[in-house]
Amino acid sequence: MSILDVKFVQGFIRLCNDGWLQGWHERNGGNLSYRIKPEEVEEVRQYFHEPGEWKEIGTSVPDLAGEYFMVTGSGKYFRNVILDPEDTSCIIELDDKGENYRILWGLCNGGRPTSELPSHLMNHEVKKKASGGSHRVIYHAHTTNVIALTFVLPLRDEVFTRELWEMATECPVVFPDGIGVVGWMVPGGRDIAVATSELMKKYDAAIWAHHGMFASGPDFDTTFGLMHTIEKSAEILVKTLSMSPTKLQTITPQNFRDLAKDFKVTLPEEFLYEKEGQ
Ligand code: 13P
Ligand code: ZN
Repeated sequence: MSILDVKFVQGFIRLCNDGWLQGWHERNGGNLSYRIKPEEVEEVRQYFHEPGEWKEIGTSVPDLAGEYFMVTGSGKYFRNVILDPEDTSCIIELDDKGENYRILWGLCNGGRPTSELPSHLMNHEVKKKASGGSHRVIYHAHTTNVIALTFVLPLRDEVFTRELWEMATECPVVFPDGIGVVGWMVPGGRDIAVATSELMKKYDAAIWAHHGMFASGPDFDTTFGLMHTIEKSAEILVKTLSMSPTKLQTITPQNFRDLAKDFKVTLPEEFLYEKEGQ
């Protein structure tokens, strides 16, 4: 028995490798964090070493005080996580104020958790509350087609949501609340973390213009599936726009309302606006 036999650790590693295989993680691009359940902490506690030094998170997440997370390391390559999880990822504990963290396992050759730790933890704090505690995974990926679209579409939630919904019938069912957009900002700090977590109050996914995407979910499958669905939809939109700047036909606002009824989802009317020439 090793820590690598523990289910959540395997799920973490598998997501990293799946993301790499999708082409979303050039070099050290992207990062992943998982809020570990109390009973899972007990499963892995035997593998913890002497706690490292307390270090500043760079923001404050009081509602996550005392919680444990598995997180990818800063500068580490997703393609290497499956080969050496102990070098590329870590388990951290937060202090009783939610202002500092310390490493309990992993990053065995040195290093620190992802530079996007403030965004991950602020998103976890918001999603923990918004989901009644069910959301546990925050995933950041450099999704090629979503990034491409941030150069040609207005950076507005309602535009990205509607255009991506139109590209595949399953989309409004997979992300009925829509998707948020953050304009270009310097990554890795508190400001972008605050802007992203503000959007995460409303959405399960947020786009960072000219950079990538964040997705949140209760487990690895749902979170990866959300990222995959949105990026696939963006790929169809890129292809469609490459063939023609206008659509000959599409899914209409009334089609969406009919879909919502049958699939028992609520689709906010703010995304079902009338478009010119439709
Ligand atoms: P890290 O290597 O620090 O996780 O940064 C990668 C990244 O994608 C920054 O946005
Ligand atoms: Zn990034």
